[in-house]
Amino acid sequence: MHIDPLERKWLYVAFSITGLFLGVILFDALIHGIHAPSHVETIDSARLHLSEEFAEDKLGVSVNADGSVTVRMVAGRYGFFPKHITVPAETPLTFRWASIDVLHGVHMPMTNLSTMIVPGYVSELHTMFPKPGLYPMLCNEYCGLGHDHMWSNVEIVAKQDWPGEITEKVGVAQ
Ligand code: CUA
Repeated sequence: MHIDPLERKWLYVAFSITGLFLGVILFDALIHGIHAPSHVETIDSARLHLSEEFAEDKLGVSVNADGSVTVRMVAGRYGFFPKHITVPAETPLTFRWASIDVLHGVHMPMTNLSTMIVPGYVSELHTMFPKPGLYPMLCNEYCGLGHDHMWSNVEIVAKQDWPGEITEKVGVAQ
């Protein structure tokens, strides 16, 4: 099949650009640990307060048997609940969010924690924070007039200073 040299040249350019984009995506996914938030787990948003996992007394930070930590939060206009959580640094963390009303986003600046919270779905992500500090957890999807004020505090403490690991194994709700 004959391909005009100029056309062939542009084919190379198009494939190179596609390859570059794929490379950037793979680099972010594998080196920076950034992944798509496609955790397809459904939940009835209207019955969150009655559901097992996202009932009010189940929210917050809990320690799993293997020492990893799970954080359960509800997003609703206008806040993430609980409003303040404390988690250990250098520990595998699983965050699980459910929206009580509309579409929200969640983002912690200077970390790789960022995802959408879609009503009807549980958003889950896994991360690990390298060092202690105080961080805001911000909403980054416009959700109404109070969107600018939708945030909560995350306190990351050094692993050895974290009381949850020593004293309790399950249900360290805060
Ligand atoms: Cu919630 Cu913006």
